[in-house]
Amino acid sequence: MSSKSIVLTGITTTGTPHLGNYVGAIRPAIEASRRHDVLPFYFLADYHALIKCQDPERVRQSTLEIAATWLALGLDTGNAVFYRQSDVPEITELAWILSCVTAKGLMNRAHAYKAAVQANEESGEADPDKGVTMGLFNYPILMAADILMFNAHKVPVGKDQIQHIEMARDIAGRFNHLYGEHFVLPEAVISEDTATLAGLDGRKMSKSYDNTIPLFLPEKPFRKLIMKIKTDSLEPGVPKDPDTSTLFGIYKAFATPEETAAIRRRYEEGISWGEMKNILFEYLNEHLKAARERYYALLESPDKIEEALREGAVKAREYSAPFMKKIRASVGIRALAP
Ligand code: TRP
Repeated sequence: MSSKSIVLTGITTTGTPHLGNYVGAIRPAIEASRRHDVLPFYFLADYHALIKCQDPERVRQSTLEIAATWLALGLDTGNAVFYRQSDVPEITELAWILSCVTAKGLMNRAHAYKAAVQANEESGEADPDKGVTMGLFNYPILMAADILMFNAHKVPVGKDQIQHIEMARDIAGRFNHLYGEHFVLPEAVISEDTATLAGLDGRKMSKSYDNTIPLFLPEKPFRKLIMKIKTDSLEPGVPKDPDTSTLFGIYKAFATPEETAAIRRRYEEGISWGEMKNILFEYLNEHLKAARERYYALLESPDKIEEALREGAVKAREYSAPFMKKIRASVGIRALAP
C-alpha cells in the first residue's frame, strides 16, 4: 500500500443520521477525506446492521440515506475509498479465518454480549443467552475483519467502540504469532475536541433515547423539532447559563468562535428561549440548506449512489482481493499444484 496513514471507519446501516452523528463523526471524517496525508476507508457496515435489525426495508433505506448523506456533504470520493461492506466479500471470508484464532473467552467479555446476558439475568430469565444470536456474539470478529482487511492504522470511533478495537488488536496479534506478521495492529482514535451534542430532552443525542434531530429533516419539521428542545423555565431578561444549555451547545458546534462569543453575551443579557430557538433554527437551516438539497436530489437518483458505491468497492477490492489471497495461503489454503 502507500506511505499514507490508513484511517478506517464503519457506519452501521440501521438509522437515519442526526445532528449528533454529524458533529461527532461525519463532519470530522469528511474533513479528513480531503487531507492528502491520509488514505481513508469509509464503509457502510450493512452486515453489521443485520445484528440489530431484521427489517429488510429499514436496512436498505438506511443504507441509501447514509450513503446520500455522506455524498451530499461533500465526501471526497477521489481520495477516500467509500464502499459497502457487503460488496467486499473478502471481509466476511477473513472474518471466518479470524474466528478460528479468536478465543471464545475473549468474545464472552465483549460488552454488547455481556449487556444482553445481564439484561436476561436481571429480568429473571432462566437462559442467560436468550435472544442472543451468533451474529451478536461474533460481532467483534466481523469488526476486526473490517479493520484488518485494509491494515488500518487508525480507527476513529466513539468511546463505546474502544473495546472492539482492542479486540481487533488481540486477534491480529494472535494471527501474526501463528502465521507471520500479516496484520497491522490498529489504534482507536477518540477525538476529544468533537462535541457531544445533547438531544431534545437534554440527554446525549442518541437513537436509543429517541431524542434525536435528523440532520436533513425538511425545513418545516426541522423548525418544529428545534422549537421542542427542552429548556428551563427562566423568563426573558433573566441571565442564563450557556454552558448547561442544549440550544447553546448545538449552536456552538456549528458556529465560529466569534459568533459563539456573541451568543454567550446574549445569554448573560437574558435572551429569551423563544428568540434563541429562532436564532438556532435560522443558523442551522442556513448552514445545512445546500447539502440538504443535494441530499434529497440524491435520494431521487439512487442510481448515482449505487454507482459511487460500486466504484468504491472496486477500489477496496484492489486491496482486499490480493491481500486475502496472501492470508488464505498463509493458513495453508492454496493451490496444490501450480
Ligand atoms: N460497530 C461500529 C459501530 O456500531 C460500526 C463499525 C463496524 C465499525 N465495523 C467497523 C467502526 C470497523 C469502525 C471500524 O459504531
